[in-house]
Amino acid sequence: MMQPPPLLDVRNLRTEFSSHRGAVRVLDDVSFSVRAGRIVGLVGESGSGKSMTALSLMGLVPSPPGKVTAESIQLSGNEMTRLSPDEMRSKRGRELSMVFQEPMTALNPVKTMVQQVGEPLAIHSNLGRREIREKVLRMFEMVGIPEPAARLDVYPHQLSGGLRQRAMIAMGLICEPKLLIADEPTTALDVTTQAQILRLMVGLRDRVGTAIVMITHDLGIIAEMCDEVNVMYAGQIVEQANVFDLFDRPSHPYTRGLLASIPKATEKRADGRLNSIKGIVPNLAKLPGGCRFNPRCGDAMAICRQQPPPLADVGGGHLARCWLHTKEGATA
Ligand SMILES: Nc1ncnc2c1ncn2[C@@H]1O[C@H](COP(=O)(O)OP(=O)(O)O)[C@@H](O)[C@H]1O
Ligand SMILES: [Mg+2]
Repeated sequence: MMQPPPLLDVRNLRTEFSSHRGAVRVLDDVSFSVRAGRIVGLVGESGSGKSMTALSLMGLVPSPPGKVTAESIQLSGNEMTRLSPDEMRSKRGRELSMVFQEPMTALNPVKTMVQQVGEPLAIHSNLGRREIREKVLRMFEMVGIPEPAARLDVYPHQLSGGLRQRAMIAMGLICEPKLLIADEPTTALDVTTQAQILRLMVGLRDRVGTAIVMITHDLGIIAEMCDEVNVMYAGQIVEQANVFDLFDRPSHPYTRGLLASIPKATEKRADGRLNSIKGIVPNLAKLPGGCRFNPRCGDAMAICRQQPPPLADVGGGHLARCWLHTKEGATA
C-alpha cells in the first residue's frame, strides 16, 4: 500500500554561522521526516544541534550571522524553503509551533497569561477579545491547569514552573497546529511534573492528532513517548530508527554510549548532563578528520580516522552513520 506523504519532510538542512574567523556549520545535511500524528525524537548531548534544528525549521535563526539552507523542507506538501520570512511567520504558530525549554525566558513578564497565550490567535485569526479569552480558558482546561479561570489575568512569575510550562504548551497548541516542536519541554521541571507533562503531550497526540518533534537529551523520555528516533551528534544525524529498533539494535557506538549512560531516577544530575560517554562534543570549528565521533569511540578503526562514514541502512530502514556497518568498514 502507498504510504501517505509525511507531514514534515526535511532534506539536507544546513545551518551555518559566520564570524570573523570564518563560517561554522552547526547543522550538516540533517534529513528526517514526521508522519501525521507521530512523535519523533531528536536526542543527543548538549551542543549536538537539536535546538538549532528546531529554530531552523521555525525560521527563528537570526540571519545574519546565521544562514539556513536546505534541499527541501516540505510541510503538508508545501515547500517551505521558497517562502519569504513573512510567509514563514504566518505558518509559524498556525501550522507548526514550538514549545521552549525555559518558559520564563520565552514568556513576556509584563503580559498577562491570557494576553500571551492568546496572542497567536490575535495574530492568525479574526476572533475578538472575548472569544480569544474563551479559547484560552478551554486550552488551560485541556492542558490540566487547575482553576483555569483564575490563571488568565495573572503574570508568568505568579505561576509555578509546571503551570508555566503547561501554559506554554497551551500557547503552542492554541491555533491547532499539525506539528508541535517541543525543545526539552520538561528539563527544568521536577520528576513528577515532568511525567505529567509528558503524559499530557502523548494524550494530546492521541486525542487531537498533533504530531510532535520531541527534543531531549534523555533516552528515557524517548523510550516512553516516541515512535521514531533521530540521534544527533556534532550537527549530524548519526542514527535513525523506529523506537523499538533503536533500543533493540543500537547500531552507532554513540547511541550505545547514550544508552549506557541513562541515569537511574535516583541519580539524575540537576544540570541535565549525561554521565558516562568519555570526552566531549567536538568544537564544530575544529572537527576531527573522518568520523566526528572517532576520538571518543571505543570501536574506532583506521578508516574511521580517515573518511567520514555514510549514513547507511543497517536493515529495514534503520540508518547508522558508522563504518562498522559497511562493507568498506568490514574489510578495513
Ligand atoms: N548563535 C550562534 N552562533 C554560533 N554558533 C552557535 C549559535 N548558537 C548555537 N551555536 C552552536 O550550535 C551548536 C548546536 O547548538 P544547539 O543546537 O543549541 O545544541 P543542543 O540544543 O543540541 O544542545 C553548538 O555547537 C553551539 O555552540
Ligand atoms: Mg538545546
